[in-house]
Amino acid sequence: MKGKIRKARIKDAEAIQFLINEYAKLGLMLPRTIHSIYENIRDFWVYEEDGKILGTCALTVFWENLAEVRSLAVSQEHTRRGIGSSLVKTALKEAQELGINRVFTLTYQVDFFKKLGFRVIDKELLPQKIWRDCINCVKFPNCDETAMEINLDGEGENETGRTAENHKAGDR
Ligand SMILES: CC(C)(COP(=O)(O)OP(=O)(O)OC[C@H]1O[C@@H](n2cnc3c(N)ncnc32)[C@H](O)[C@@H]1OP(=O)(O)O)[C@@H](O)C(=O)NCCC(=O)NCCS
Repeated sequence: MKGKIRKARIKDAEAIQFLINEYAKLGLMLPRTIHSIYENIRDFWVYEEDGKILGTCALTVFWENLAEVRSLAVSQEHTRRGIGSSLVKTALKEAQELGINRVFTLTYQVDFFKKLGFRVIDKELLPQKIWRDCINCVKFPNCDETAMEINLDGEGENETGRTAENHKAGDR
C-alpha cells in the first residue's frame, strides 16, 4: 500500500458516500445518506492514495465496552491489496485506545473478518440499541447479515457471551 490511512475530514464525505453506495447498489451494504456521513464523520477512517479516497471504515461506539466496525468499503478496482484489513486494524486500535475491548460487525464478509480474528456470534447477544439504525433498512426485520465479534483483551468465548448477556439485560 503506497497510500495512507487517516481520520476522515469533512471534505471526504462525498467520496465516502460514493464508495458505500456503489456496494449498496449491489445489495452488499446499506446505503448511507450524506447527512448521516456528515453527522458521523468523526467515526470514519479513510485510505487515501494519490489524492483519491480508495477505502473507508467507521468505528461507532455503542456502550461502555462495545463498538461496531461498520461502513467498510474498498474501491472495487483496489480490493485484495490489504486496504480493507488495514482499515479494520486501524479501527480496532482506535477502540483499544478508547478502552473498548469488544468490537462487533454485521456483515456478509464472514471469511474476511475471520482472518482478522472475529468470530461468529448469535445476534441475540447484541444489545437492542444496536438495532436503532435497522428500522430504516429495506431488509428490516429479516436481517440476513452475520453478527461477528472480536474480543481485544483476549478473553474467552464464555466470558464474552456473559458480557453480551449483561449488556442485553441492562438495555431493557
Ligand atoms: C470486504 C472488503 C472490505 C475486503 O477489502 P480488501 O481490501 O479486498 O481486503 P484485504 O486485501 O485487506 O484482504 C485481507 C484478507 O482477506 C481476504 N479477503 C478479502 N476479501 C475477501 C472476501 N470477500 N472473502 C474472503 N476473503 C477475503 C484476502 O484475500 C486477504 O487474505 P490474506 O490475508 O490471506 O491474503 C472489500 O472487498 C469490500 O469493500 N467489499 C464490499 C463491501 C463489504 O462487503 N464490506 C463489508 C461490510 S461489513
